Amino acid sequence: MSAPEPATPRRFFVETWGCQMNELDSQRFAGQLMQQGLLPTRHPREADVILLNSCSVRDKAEQKVFSRLGQYRLLKAERPDLLLGLCGCVAEQVGRRALRRVPELDFVLGTARVGELAAVIARRRRGERPVATGFSDPRHYEIDAISRDGTYKGMVTLIEGCDKHCTFCIVPRTRGPERSRPLREVVREVRHLVDYGFREIELLGQTVNHWREPGGTQDFADLLDAVARIEGVERLRFVTSYPRDFTSRMVARFARHANLCPYLHLPVQSGSDRVLRLMGRGYTAASYRDLVAELRAARPDIALSTDLIVGFPGETEEDFRATVELVREIRFGSFFAFKYSPRPGTAAPRLPDPVDDETADRRLQELFQIQEPIQLELNGRLVASEQDVLVTGWGREPGTQHGRTRCHRVVHFAAGDTPTRPGDTTRVRVEKALPHSLIARRLDAPPQASAQ
Ligand code: SAH
Ligand code: F3S
Repeated sequence: MSAPEPATPRRFFVETWGCQMNELDSQRFAGQLMQQGLLPTRHPREADVILLNSCSVRDKAEQKVFSRLGQYRLLKAERPDLLLGLCGCVAEQVGRRALRRVPELDFVLGTARVGELAAVIARRRRGERPVATGFSDPRHYEIDAISRDGTYKGMVTLIEGCDKHCTFCIVPRTRGPERSRPLREVVREVRHLVDYGFREIELLGQTVNHWREPGGTQDFADLLDAVARIEGVERLRFVTSYPRDFTSRMVARFARHANLCPYLHLPVQSGSDRVLRLMGRGYTAASYRDLVAELRAARPDIALSTDLIVGFPGETEEDFRATVELVREIRFGSFFAFKYSPRPGTAAPRLPDPVDDETADRRLQELFQIQEPIQLELNGRLVASEQDVLVTGWGREPGTQHGRTRCHRVVHFAAGDTPTRPGDTTRVRVEKALPHSLIARRLDAPPQASAQ
């Protein structure tokens, strides 16, 4: 008698939008589904479970979620057993209304309920259409149920949520109140990731440098000391820092720990004090400049990146000029610039003097035009230098790979005969600079055998 045909494994597909927190949450979804015996697939058509891990920071992102759900719901006509779940920030924001808007949607799972995926799927199988949103304490976070595969960096949450309530930002609503994780848990998770083989550790939080030991006195500078000293942590990075919460003790850590990468994302949002006040950011352009000077004194090779918003209500031409001036002066290694997008439940849409779309577009384009030659020049300084590159994956051109320098610049290089795996490091010499990346040659691999 022949052996029974093995059952076709069930498959899942997770689509991720937005920030690093969503990236990590998607690894948590994948881990839980794999514990249930499901395997990942890259093709939604093959999937028995599709999760859309959504972002709602700007209106466009939110609209895209619903158009994507519209595509996935068609798959249900072919596969009635398919489970379709809306997760992430849009799930948290719209909750039950998503079920009404998309009749084929099976469940809605909010940002603080990631750990409850299995229970929600079980409820669905019993015939409910569950909506799990809202914030409870403690939040479920299991480090053993995270699928870390296929990524080059180990991500660790330090803080969940945000209490800052910048007037433009929906995140405090979609990610809930700020909660720091205890240092001992963070250290345990970093050790686990290093044992797993990660060389780079990325610490996460909306205001990561606002971390405090729950019920204790230690702050983010102490946490950096503890994590940077863990054996095997070759590269340590953290996102996102809030300028006002950056203390001199934290700055000093850049001089103290060589494995703390010379890279910092420090969102400034605007160069105008008037706009910063309207945004509720709690710092001035001058104090931001002082902080940058202090960071550069502590770590002269530090590369800075930032976020900027143009077209915030009330932003005059003069305010915008102040932003232009700041961008010219600071010379960021890279930046993310956005057109202001009014978000539900935030204060800014009620402010007077909205900026028209055309003006906001023009300002955005102007910022990109100013920034590009700055990046090209800064990248050009690295030509002919040798760099350690952490390999992040395969390039679109056959035989090429990409990676990141310690200062977080993107590097493209030919793999050669002995390609490296994502997560490994390789030594390169930079041969060419582009505005958004570097082209380099590997120094630690024999050249590709010639084709003759
Ligand atoms: N603390 C988080 C903030 C998340 S939002 C972090 O810095 O990662 C990321 C960026 O999106 C913000 O820094 C801001 O520049 C931009 N952003 C947030 N809300 C926005 C809005 N309503 N319109 C346009 N850009 C926005
Ligand atoms: Fe948003 Fe400001 Fe917090 S940008 S995430 S409210 S620090």
